[in-house]
Amino acid sequence: MCGIIGYIGPKSVAQVLIEGLKKLEYRGYDSAGIAVDDENEIKVRRVKGKISDLEESLAKSPLQGSYGLGHTRWATHGRPSEENAHPHRDCTGSLVVVHNGIIENYLPLKKKLKDEGHSFQTETDTEVIAHLIEKYFQGSLEEATQRAVQELEGAYAIAAFSTQDAPKIVATKVGPPAVVGLGENEYFVSSDINPLLSHTQRMVFLEDGEIAVIEPEGVRFSDFKGSSLEKRVDYLTWTPLMIEKEGFKHFMLKEIFEQPQVVRDTITGRVSLDSGEMCLDEIGISAEFLKKIKKTVIIACGTSYHAGLVGKYFIETLADIPVDIEYASEYRYRDFILDRETLVLVISQSGETADVLAALRAVKKRGAVPLAICNVKNSSIAREAEGLLYTHAGPEIGVAATKTFSDQMAALALIALHLAQLKEKVDSETNFSLIEDLHRIPYRMEKILSQAESIEKLARRFISFSHFLYLGRWVNYPIALEGALKLKEISYIHAEGYPGGEMKHGPIALIDEKIPTMVIIPRDRVYEKMMSNISEIKTRLGYILAIAFEDDKEIQDKVDKVISIPSTNPLFTPFLTTIPVQLFAYYIAAMRGADVDQPRNLAKSVTVE
Ligand code: M6R
Repeated sequence: MCGIIGYIGPKSVAQVLIEGLKKLEYRGYDSAGIAVDDENEIKVRRVKGKISDLEESLAKSPLQGSYGLGHTRWATHGRPSEENAHPHRDCTGSLVVVHNGIIENYLPLKKKLKDEGHSFQTETDTEVIAHLIEKYFQGSLEEATQRAVQELEGAYAIAAFSTQDAPKIVATKVGPPAVVGLGENEYFVSSDINPLLSHTQRMVFLEDGEIAVIEPEGVRFSDFKGSSLEKRVDYLTWTPLMIEKEGFKHFMLKEIFEQPQVVRDTITGRVSLDSGEMCLDEIGISAEFLKKIKKTVIIACGTSYHAGLVGKYFIETLADIPVDIEYASEYRYRDFILDRETLVLVISQSGETADVLAALRAVKKRGAVPLAICNVKNSSIAREAEGLLYTHAGPEIGVAATKTFSDQMAALALIALHLAQLKEKVDSETNFSLIEDLHRIPYRMEKILSQAESIEKLARRFISFSHFLYLGRWVNYPIALEGALKLKEISYIHAEGYPGGEMKHGPIALIDEKIPTMVIIPRDRVYEKMMSNISEIKTRLGYILAIAFEDDKEIQDKVDKVISIPSTNPLFTPFLTTIPVQLFAYYIAAMRGADVDQPRNLAKSVTVE
């Protein structure tokens, strides 16, 4: 939800900001802007549209400066327009601010500031920050920011500069992320590490209530009271190449193809094929506690929720522990009951999703010891959870989650096996066979990916359909939900995911020749039940695409088209059934000319409620 970037250093400022914004564009892309300090005069350029539009405008009429700020927006308050695009100015025009988040009390603040004589140019909540800093400015931007933030309610990552206290960028945060990059005689602030990777791997992550003062000579840190802070410098191992398309048409397609490798990376070293033992000491939650747990609660949003739902089946089946799965946005407002024998798992790719972070804080308040599954290193959720298991998916740029979904399932399979071993719920033979199956998953994924062209051909037939139904059951019910979500979010085709057993309770009324159904039907304990669903749909003239095991001959003449996947342990089929639903959605969206990597109205990390 919005990306911010700031730079002070010898390189071309506008260029560094534009390149940085391109890497943040997945966070929001309805308007963008930069502001630079050009010999003590602020020059601002803003456009409605994408970073490429801003780049075009700057190519026609360049901006020179010695430091500056950039912003890419996902509108919350005020429609996407040039006026509402950041950076925003104060009344004097000598101060600019960029912001990610929501200022919840902006209306009373705006009224008060107007009464005090400030004049507003935009419909945004952000503009109040510029006027508040202006109000308290007495020569020190840092001090004025400290005073201004005392009045703000809500979530914010802010960066500002003023020609009256220059050269300097001041950045702070409560809620959304902000990271400072330490280069050679150059310094950066950004919403995430992606824009910084091509300049430096030395990063400092700001915590809530901290302020960074970035100057040409270096960076100082303090808290909201002005006390200086010593901050740890982290060395990030992600490389710039990881955020390039590397010949793929879209990041999403590249990320779908990366899945075998990222699942391998997430499993490797954490489970031994030789001894059958799990090596998960890194999670930081004691084996004594895990041995005693009687229940698990999984909390997440969106695709991570679907991974959590798969995790429920893994944990219940392997470790024999009951699992509740909850939307973070609901759970945080519930009068939930947690006891000391419950393991809370929070799942978030970005580690910044506002609802997940709030739920994490709420469960900690009730004395729970949450274990997080995150992909982004040092993200807020990764830092605040008591226990942590990283997925090793690398940066995911496509807004639609793909490789991180498979990786979250891999992490959940590891946790389920760990719990099963600790609770002695699997005998040695079953344990070895599960671990072997898990290790074979990446090879089987590769086999499915080698059929991508035939899935593309198949997808072509469906580009003009308006509705789609996805059916799955047991461990593949979450994949029906995920398949429908993928199709909706990138192709804008209406799609619903249902558990097969629920068909008769309503959705079957929808079936006719205009609604195709994707049926996920590997040979498992609900195979026959899904077969009944298939004949019910066929009787009503519905077109059926099935995802089934390659050695399943029975299905061939029962449906219109089959996408084959290799046979595997039924419990682990979601790793395989996921790939066809992702590819199918991708090809349909790409053929419809949709903006696959940056679907309308969405942003990669939802850092506001
Ligand atoms: O970063 P998170 O895993 O917490 O994000 C959760 C959802 O916002 C995310 O999965 C979203 O649903 C994606 N657009 C799905 O493709």
